[in-house]
Amino acid sequence: MATTIFQTPIKLVVGAGSVEKVGEEAAKLGKRALIVIGGSSAKKTGLLDKVSADLKANGLEVFVFEGITPNPRSSTVDEGARMAAEKNIDLIIGLGGGSVMDASKALKLAYSSGLPSFDFYSGKADSNAFQSKAALMLVPTMAATGSEFNHWSVITNWETHEKRAIGVPMAFPATSIVDPALTLTMPVSQVAKGGVDIFLHVMENYITHDAGAALSDGIREAIMKVVVEWLPVAVKEPTNLEARKNLSWASSLACSQAITFGGGQGYRPIHLIEHAISGLYDVQHGDGLSALLPSWLRQSMSKRSARITKLGKNVFDTDGDTADAVEKWLDSVGMKTSLSKLGVPEAQFAAAAQNALDTSRGFLAKDAVHNSVETITALYKAAF
Ligand code: NZQ
Ligand code: ZN
Repeated sequence: MATTIFQTPIKLVVGAGSVEKVGEEAAKLGKRALIVIGGSSAKKTGLLDKVSADLKANGLEVFVFEGITPNPRSSTVDEGARMAAEKNIDLIIGLGGGSVMDASKALKLAYSSGLPSFDFYSGKADSNAFQSKAALMLVPTMAATGSEFNHWSVITNWETHEKRAIGVPMAFPATSIVDPALTLTMPVSQVAKGGVDIFLHVMENYITHDAGAALSDGIREAIMKVVVEWLPVAVKEPTNLEARKNLSWASSLACSQAITFGGGQGYRPIHLIEHAISGLYDVQHGDGLSALLPSWLRQSMSKRSARITKLGKNVFDTDGDTADAVEKWLDSVGMKTSLSKLGVPEAQFAAAAQNALDTSRGFLAKDAVHNSVETITALYKAAF
């Protein structure tokens, strides 16, 4: 039997209104805070002002680094690390979606080491060789990636178009404040993209692990059922806080070690195949996943029919075709899409497939179905 180790240093503060705790919690971690934000949402919603004021009221000096984009660039992260060094920062606060949170983790690595951030993602540098110069706090404004409750970070080198993920101890946040009410300002289309991402963080591991992990199967089915039921509610009723609470909880658990309780690790091939699409064409992560999902299920039936049929029965309550049921659900939240609708050029599929293999840390080469340029290209074609 494989050994499972569960260890997390993250203090997770969850609940509607928990954003009020940011100042109090931040004061326990540092004195000179760099708030990292995205394009404009944190300013427009007034969240940046509110958090800055709270930090100052708790005795912290506050600096702001703005401009993290979806599919965050390593070059932007490096600019942020330079600012952190200039201001002698001892606390980094990522206030935004997964892109901001991942970039904040990367910024911590670059600032602590003095190296370009992408060195850690390409495998050139090892963060364990460096002492941390700043604590990390994350405040998600979306329910999607679960970056707030894990040590994963995904950034893109825009010169080479490599989108790579790492999971390292230095990227663990010390504290994450998960306030579902902050997600109420998200456009409904973004809520839907995030919901599909949450679903896939669980579904991919559920389908790809070896059978014989009853408890983790149950945990994963419960999380997926919550997303399948509550995402359509969140999309139809944009002010429904109950729906946002359920999605925020699901988001934090879905991409954490919690889904490995009971054994049966599994992995995320659709994610690895999607990273090439968003790294090459700047497609949003949730859109790329949605385009690939039904075709991935259909093409995986040859090797994984028992797990896919179980998903249909236990999560979608169907004895029929699981991919059809999943596609219907995607349609119900406005996420039925295709690579052609997302503007991905068919002529480049082989290059994208090679990129996916190259950036997958060897995982795709071992996949039961999508393990070569030919098979991954066939998936892109089916999803076009
Ligand atoms: O940039 P701003 O203006 O803040 O707007 C953002 C952005 O345009 C907006 N937004 C976020 N919160 C909002 C809001 N707008 C209004 N109100 C709010 N409350 O939403 C847009 C998308 O944000 P982004 O952070 O890109 O989305 P998401 O959370 O889906 O993050 C995606 C990134 O995370 C990576 C993905 O690859 C992608 O780069 N992932 C990270 C993982 C991890 N660390 O564990 C795992 C995931 O599988 C994923 O790969
Ligand atoms: Zn994801």
